[in-house]
Amino acid sequence: MSNTRDGFQSRLGFVLASAGSAIGLGNIWGFPTQAANNGGGAFLFVYLVVTLLLALPALYAEIYLGNQTQKNPVSALTYACRDKMPKVGRYAGIIGLCGAIMMLSFYTIVAGWMLAHTLSPIFQFFGQTEAAQWLASSSTWRNIIFTPIFIILGAAIVHQGVHGGIEKWSSRLMPILLLMLFGLIGYILQQDGASEGLALYLIPDFSQITDPELIVSAMGQAFFSLSIGVGGMMVYGSYIEKGRDLGKLVTSIAALDTFIAFIAGLLIIPALFVAQHAGQEVFANNKLIGEGQLIFQILPTLFDSMGSIGLLIATAFFALLSIAALTSTISSTEVPVAFLIEEKKINRQKATLMVSAVVLVGSMTIVAFFDVLFGAVIRVLTTIMQPLMCLFYFIVVGWLWQRGNKLTDSSVLAQNKGLALLGNYLRFVCPVLLTIVFINVAF
Ligand code: PFF
Repeated sequence: MSNTRDGFQSRLGFVLASAGSAIGLGNIWGFPTQAANNGGGAFLFVYLVVTLLLALPALYAEIYLGNQTQKNPVSALTYACRDKMPKVGRYAGIIGLCGAIMMLSFYTIVAGWMLAHTLSPIFQFFGQTEAAQWLASSSTWRNIIFTPIFIILGAAIVHQGVHGGIEKWSSRLMPILLLMLFGLIGYILQQDGASEGLALYLIPDFSQITDPELIVSAMGQAFFSLSIGVGGMMVYGSYIEKGRDLGKLVTSIAALDTFIAFIAGLLIIPALFVAQHAGQEVFANNKLIGEGQLIFQILPTLFDSMGSIGLLIATAFFALLSIAALTSTISSTEVPVAFLIEEKKINRQKATLMVSAVVLVGSMTIVAFFDVLFGAVIRVLTTIMQPLMCLFYFIVVGWLWQRGNKLTDSSVLAQNKGLALLGNYLRFVCPVLLTIVFINVAF
């Protein structure tokens, strides 16, 4: 069975695909916005601490589960819990799978906005002002058209398989994303006002650091950014050969993700100050005037004021966000697709079609009841499902999974001090830390 399973053909392909999953709207939009609102460098500092103490171990646990079992997330969790509570493992896997569908249902809507904004400056360039304006203003019709387009783009990659689709496209798109990001940073940092933004970002305001809300926001941001808790990383981990040097691979994924979030701050926060310098209102009472306004109003107005080069910058900026969203979308799509292929024996093309149809229904339901559902789905996923799934991973890897688990095998641990330390950390420290933070979120 295992030799007929599709998979990544190189370690680099795995790292790029996983980094592609991790690096998304959360890095380029979410992180800089949160940093700007929460003490700049202080947020960065807390984010780094939370990533090291909790998110990195959670990412390790998730990828380890996939890699050791070489199965899709539902089968992996069922297998890992087989001795103690197989049903619980299976239900948890299915909850994770629902998390992936929830993630896709709102993420593809936002990604559709990015696509529309990528096209808007192009229409503007060709003198189609009305169409350009329509593309740049939010409307239900825009959602109804662009969300399915984005779902189709993701499906077009996933249906080509792990090596032929996911690995190939991640390896193409990630370097483009990096080039665009660096190019944009280089341009924005030369504009008047940018240095003020750099100062706010890089000089920490430690007075905000004791705020428990800051720690909670940083944790939510770190989990979302590293794509932990919905099985996307688990399924990718299952596509590399068992027993590869996971510690190094996981650390490089987390390092790339954190680096890009940091670098995106060097673009967005200085850009805000460039906009302010050009006369736009950006902050009120020391807070950004609105997360949505930042990307869809303040920055487009800034690009507009730059003349024709602004059209190019605007297209590049939103194309960057669209690419980041696309590589994130495909990992979540792969979770239910792998489940249907392996457990229900459905072929990949049909499985991709079925998952895309479900995501379409989910996203159109959110579009239909946008005011009620959009924020609620994001909140349930990021503040409840992702942390609880992580807690479950720690419990599985540290306690429930015995046979075939290096991290609970005393004879392996006796010989490998590093692994023993990691095992104990995942077993004792992570669940306690996570519970403390989770209780803070819930109450
Ligand atoms: N990590 C992605 C981001 O930062 O935008 C979001 C994400 C992707 C979350 C994939 C969950 C997931 F499975």
